[in-house]
Amino acid sequence: FAMLKESSQSGAPLYLQLRKSIEEAVNRGLIGPGDALPSERDIASKADISRVTVRKAVQDLVKGGILVQRHGSGTFVAPRMERVEQSLSRLTSFTEDMARRGMVVRSAWLDRGLYAPSPDEMMVLGLSSSELVARVARLRIANDTPLAIERAAISASVLPDPEAIGSSLYAALELTGNRPVRAVQRISAANLGDGDARLLEVPPGVAGLHIERISYLASGKVIEFTRSIYRGDAYDFVAELRLTG
Ligand code: GLP
Repeated sequence: FAMLKESSQSGAPLYLQLRKSIEEAVNRGLIGPGDALPSERDIASKADISRVTVRKAVQDLVKGGILVQRHGSGTFVAPRMERVEQSLSRLTSFTEDMARRGMVVRSAWLDRGLYAPSPDEMMVLGLSSSELVARVARLRIANDTPLAIERAAISASVLPDPEAIGSSLYAALELTGNRPVRAVQRISAANLGDGDARLLEVPPGVAGLHIERISYLASGKVIEFTRSIYRGDAYDFVAELRLTG
């Protein structure tokens, strides 16, 4: 930032100069993924520029995905994303997928409770309007990186107490003999809205993947109707294709 002070006569707007020097510091590894940026006030006083200028540069870098802001705790260099390669031919849970990769799984609850079902929940889960649906919405996090927002709907007769499920929905279903054995998964492109982008710590409007999973018990009964938003920059879905005659 001292360098910035010396070069501030160079003509380019100050916020652009600051943006460039932060970018350079990241590219040269002077500050690495996950490192905290000094506070706005510190940067402003060290570089002898206004906080408004600092904020403008920082916002630009957040939009560009170089920095991330965590509410209440500050601004950090964005974690370097290693893409997750996910098979499309096995019916696994998020917890199992991440554990297999040696990643530490965590979820932040967005919603869990019993509700009157929406028309599509009634249709997919075969519920009548007098029955209830258990909704379980979570931000799924692996190694401290938010990867997906998953909104699952399960019949309340199967999951009467959504508050009671632990960290894995499939583990909770397995305990009651309701682990799905087959699923149909539909993947489509989606641009992330502001709220989802904020939760996933990516700039709003970037590409995401909308994934719908309807899963079944061996009896053929639908057990799960989940709609998720996955980070487009974090996932490769891989399927093996065979020539059948
Ligand atoms: C995957 C699926 C979801 C499923 C979830 C269960 O992420 N896309 O449809 O609900 O796994 O994961 P867990 O058992 O970790 O809660």
